Order: sequence, then structure tokens, then C-alpha cells
Amino acid sequence: MIPSIKECYRYMDKYHMLAHIKAHSVVVARVARMIARGLREENPDISVSKTTVGALLHDIGKTPSINFGGDHAEIGKQICMENGFDEIAPIVAEHVILKNYRLNSADSEKEVVFYADKRVNHDRIVTLKERENYIIKRYGRGQEELGERIKINFRLCGQVEEKLFSKLNFSPESFLEMNGAEIERFERGLEIPGAH
Ligand SMILES: [Fe+2]
Repeated sequence: MIPSIKECYRYMDKYHMLAHIKAHSVVVARVARMIARGLREENPDISVSKTTVGALLHDIGKTPSINFGGDHAEIGKQICMENGFDEIAPIVAEHVILKNYRLNSADSEKEVVFYADKRVNHDRIVTLKERENYIIKRYGRGQEELGERIKINFRLCGQVEEKLFSKLNFSPESFLEMNGAEIERFERGLEIPGAH
């Protein structure tokens, strides 16, 4: 089952998603939805609703992981499974790191959410490089090995970017110009809770 956008907002509350994570998730969902819509023109197998919902719920495991420990992507996957969102669970599970990924495989909702999450710092659309620098500073904890793993993940994300945008008629940079009102106009129905 794929929940509606309205239901996603209810689940955010049910799992005590913090306001800034909600705001982040909505911007990720806007970016992801635009990419999915673009890809769909060529590939009808891409589901815009699956992508949007996957993006809205990608950090649903964040608060439980802060409170009780554990990997937030894995917890998020479990939450999706418990609520019958089986099609969304794999997207949430792999939003941080894509598992068994092949660059030459067909485009997927998973890839879109993985990518879109790395284009949004807090609720601001940024370049992959900017997000990478933030993640290294925030989570690398000065450990060289961890920092290296983050860099490898972002290198892959750069390849995903190249692959996805080779099929789109807008560029990765165009999101930077669309911050704020413009993207909101494109993506009606994805409002940041509490912002209006
Ligand atoms: Fe996350």
C-alpha cells in the first residue's frame, strides 16, 4: 500500500518527527517528485507517488533512532513494513546508502530519493558538494575512515546524478535557482507542516 500525502503527514506526527526533519523531508519530496515526473516521460515504470511518499517518509525512523538508538534507515524500513507500506520500505531502507547498486540498471524510485536527500541541507537545496562537506563535518567526527566512506558514497551519488539527468530536460543546477517560491508553485500539495 502507498499512503497518501496527507497520511504521510499523519505518520510523521505518529512517529514524533521533529519540525526541522519534517521541513527537510518536504523539500526532499519536492526535488524527488520533479525528478520522478521528468523520468516518467521516458520511463512509465517510475512511480511519481512512490517516489514522493518515499521521500516524505525517508526519515520516519529518525526520532526513534535518537531516542532508542539504531540505524534510522533500518528503523524507518521497519516502520513502513509494520504499517503495510511494503513498496515504500526499500526506498526508506536505502536512502542513505544504496545496497547492491548497479549504475547500469533501470532507474528506480530508490535512486531518486537517495539522490534528492543529498541535495537538501536542512530545508535548503544545495549542491552535492555542499551537502557532502556538511555530512563529513557533522558525521565524519574527524575520523579519516568514516570521512572516506562518506566521500565514496557521494562519488556514487555524483554518478547517479549524471545518469538521471542525462534523461531529464533540466539540469541539477536548475534546482538552485528554484529555491523557495518557484519550486513551491511546481509542487503544490507538498506544504511544510506548520509553515502556513
Ligand atoms: Fe535520513
